[in-house]
Amino acid sequence: MEPRGKLISFEGGEGTGKSTQARLLKSALEERGKRVVLTREPGGSPGAEQIRKLVVEGDPQRWTPLSETLLFLAARVDHVERTILPALADGAWVVSDRFSDSTYVYQGIARGLGTEKVRRLHEAALGSFAPDLTIVLDLDPAEGLKRAGGRAQGHENRFERFDGEFHETLRAAFRDIARSEPKRCVVVDAGRAPEMVAADVWRAVEERLRP
Ligand code: TYD
Repeated sequence: MEPRGKLISFEGGEGTGKSTQARLLKSALEERGKRVVLTREPGGSPGAEQIRKLVVEGDPQRWTPLSETLLFLAARVDHVERTILPALADGAWVVSDRFSDSTYVYQGIARGLGTEKVRRLHEAALGSFAPDLTIVLDLDPAEGLKRAGGRAQGHENRFERFDGEFHETLRAAFRDIARSEPKRCVVVDAGRAPEMVAADVWRAVEERLRP
């Protein structure tokens, strides 16, 4: 039987280049002979993709912080049970564009539900399940929103419409998580050319997970 694969998540604010870096990491791991499942949150399984529409589209105040958190968690449980765990058990590596740190930061801090409440809900739903490695892509939010705004029209999601302070809060919160969990998290400066960012990502993956 193949050894269990590893779960790597990318985290960060809007427009930090998570999906580009996730794709580049998938290719790099494949060159090392790994089978890789590239996935994202909210989403990553048929049920979770349906929930994604509910949480990403529409008015910023569409959900209360608690109902929104429960929706993200419902999507995550489906994603973990239906996509991530079967892939890991099969020996594949899983690269996810966002995972549970996004809930701590967006719902727990930025939307004000409280990180302790998010932690308890996560534990009830998923126990101690966590990525083997989390890459936090760090970027000035003004630059990130400019990049995100340059995407195809109609892509804008509910969270891009919150004000500038919300996005400053996000950045600080991701950095705080990385500081408090240095074994799991690595912060990478995302304000550079994609290939330079990818080189730092690869260094972190090699050092910590020895693919
Ligand atoms: P998406 O269009 O994928 O944005 P991005 O490219 O920035 O990831 O939309 C996902 C949005 O959902 C994003 O703004 C972050 C938010 N989100 C949460 O608020 N909580 C969560 O737990 C997750 C996974 C995402």
